Amino acid sequence: MSTAENLYQIFPDETESQPDSFEQYHQMYLNSPDAIVILDQNLKIMEANPAFERITEFSSKEIIGELVTGIAARPIAQEQLESIKFKALSANGWKAQIISRKKSGKFWNCHLALSALKPCEGSKSGYIGIIRDITQLTFRNLKGISSTDAIKNTQFSLVYGLAKLAECRDPETGYHLERVEGYCAIIAEALKSRPKYERLISREFIETIASSSPLHDIGKVGIPDSILKKKGPLTKEEFSVMKHHSVIGGDVLKGSEEHSSSEGNLIMARTIAYEHHERYDGSGYPFRLKGDQISLPARIVALVDAYDCITSKRVYKEAESHEVAVEKIRIDSNKHFDPDIVDAFLEAETEILRIKGKYPNVNVNPDTKFLKFNEDRYK
Ligand SMILES: [Fe+2]
Ligand SMILES: [Fe+2]
Repeated sequence: MSTAENLYQIFPDETESQPDSFEQYHQMYLNSPDAIVILDQNLKIMEANPAFERITEFSSKEIIGELVTGIAARPIAQEQLESIKFKALSANGWKAQIISRKKSGKFWNCHLALSALKPCEGSKSGYIGIIRDITQLTFRNLKGISSTDAIKNTQFSLVYGLAKLAECRDPETGYHLERVEGYCAIIAEALKSRPKYERLISREFIETIASSSPLHDIGKVGIPDSILKKKGPLTKEEFSVMKHHSVIGGDVLKGSEEHSSSEGNLIMARTIAYEHHERYDGSGYPFRLKGDQISLPARIVALVDAYDCITSKRVYKEAESHEVAVEKIRIDSNKHFDPDIVDAFLEAETEILRIKGKYPNVNVNPDTKFLKFNEDRYK
């Protein structure tokens, strides 16, 4: 199908009533600073405007017939693709901010919006995608905008991006960060309904733990690949290097706090990074804190992280069922975990399972393998 026909599909009413509009839309498509892609029913690229090449560095030849989600730095699960297609059919379409990689291997911050094309006679349905490079925008916001919320959001999208990059080094973790974020909010909400926590847990606490918890393992950027990606058990020495990730992460976030104007969220993120491997009975690391000495957000993340680890496949083990995880957590109540948090987790089981189903462990889609980055740059 030609660009003309595709554009006709996007704006059929307008092009019919005003013949000159077609030329205007065509010019818009060619000169748009944002990348515009026309996709088939399976989200595979049929056509891309010149901005796509400029932004992604992939030539049209390389991307025609490939999935649009291939621009993401991480593979997208098949289940996720189905949900994207479904949401793109709605009136508001589907939108997301994703970390992407250019052909040269450089990471960039992408805003991707997909909506369905109106099918016209003789044509199949499909989608249109608008891709915007928001990397510079994000940095500009940090410097120039005075609104606290805008700064908070921008700061978190940057730090979250960093956490996702850290996670990229460990492809088997899948949607670990998304699940951790969801589980933490659910447990904090369940705790809030108890008199003991009513005043401790505010709306802001719930929002902050959701946005801070994905940073818990950010210190893994400082752990060598030979240990992080090792298949099989770690030696005692390797494990002591691995354990250091909590201190590295805490220190990194402490450093960010010193350069930040909205330190609240980063304080929670920092405590979580430092303390998420502490255990309620004082046998954890790095500081061997005990009971309430461990901050409440870190106690929540400790349980959530363990639950997600038990129910996920890792290089060294298979995924276990929700029921097995629940049993292990029950046994470890008052030892590894705060008993109040175990109770809140059990009470919120249905919601926990909803998040688990929403972000399943990734089955890498073979169609995403077209992204052949120039890895040599990084060797
Ligand atoms: Fe960790
Ligand atoms: Fe984790």
